[in-house]
Amino acid sequence: MVDPDPADGGDPSESDPVVAAIFDAVAATAPEIRAALPGRRVESGTDNPSGESVLAGDLYADELLADALTAVDGVGSFVSEERETAVDAGGAVGEGAYAVAIDPLDGSSNLRSNNAMGTVVGVYDAPLPATGRDLVAAGYVLYGPITTMIVADEEGVREEVVERESNGSGSRSVVEDDLTLPDDPLVYGFGGRVPDWPADFTAFAREIEDELKLRYGGAMVGDVNQVLTYGGLFAYPALVDAPEGKLRLSFEANPIAYIVERAGGAATDGDTDILDVEPEGVHDRVPLYVGNEGLVKRLEDALADG
Ligand code: AHG
Ligand code: MN
Ligand code: MN
Repeated sequence: MVDPDPADGGDPSESDPVVAAIFDAVAATAPEIRAALPGRRVESGTDNPSGESVLAGDLYADELLADALTAVDGVGSFVSEERETAVDAGGAVGEGAYAVAIDPLDGSSNLRSNNAMGTVVGVYDAPLPATGRDLVAAGYVLYGPITTMIVADEEGVREEVVERESNGSGSRSVVEDDLTLPDDPLVYGFGGRVPDWPADFTAFAREIEDELKLRYGGAMVGDVNQVLTYGGLFAYPALVDAPEGKLRLSFEANPIAYIVERAGGAATDGDTDILDVEPEGVHDRVPLYVGNEGLVKRLEDALADG
């Protein structure tokens, strides 16, 4: 049951002080990122390492988060979807310092249509490229009607409300301290164009369409939050002309897989647990299917039977 009044929310509860400081810093920047969005809906004129055009909002969020997170004691490097290389923050990653991987603005194409988007955070105890098993925590900010933040660590998954303080900084308070996937799935959301889906995924999707309600908003964090709230399945599948799908392992799939698995769900690239996928590069893409364990298992069987 989510506390209806965030003012009664509880204090954040990460046992690792560096992880707590990382999510304090992410929450602190959230109101300023949100306030900057109206004036940054335009193309920046640059592309990111994934070859995608970058909006002014992407760059602004990236700069703000880089400044905030490289200042956190215990952060050894800042790695971003928008940057070719890591920003050195001092401290040896994997030897007492963490690498923080950020998708500064996930779903930024929703800026023009004023729909949900967010910031994805992965806290790795190893230099990138790393597997999801090197994650010690993960989370995301969701810029929806209200600003919330999901934080997952070894204690479990928590939902927080982020509120703007009088000094413009964001503070966070826990409104759900043990978030778990509902047992009975209700929603699904599958990315990509239907004609680009491989035949085996299309057949699987047709089954799911007869069982669940479509919830696809074009921003992974918003669509995954639907699955965390109501139970179901989110996928950005392998496509006929893009067998690696669209989402990046380091910045999107690993953090989301970590969160959903801690909430009692599962995440796969089609046949391997996302957290076990061995990347070659920091910006590697991977197909992502994530949600209730039974649905993920059905998906893997459907793709195996081809
Ligand atoms: P980003 O804005 O960080 O590039 O991420 C966009 C991703 C993800 O948020 C979403 O699931 C997917 O792109 C949507 O892709 P389509 O526009 O092809 O549906
Ligand atoms: Mn993204
Ligand atoms: Mn992004």
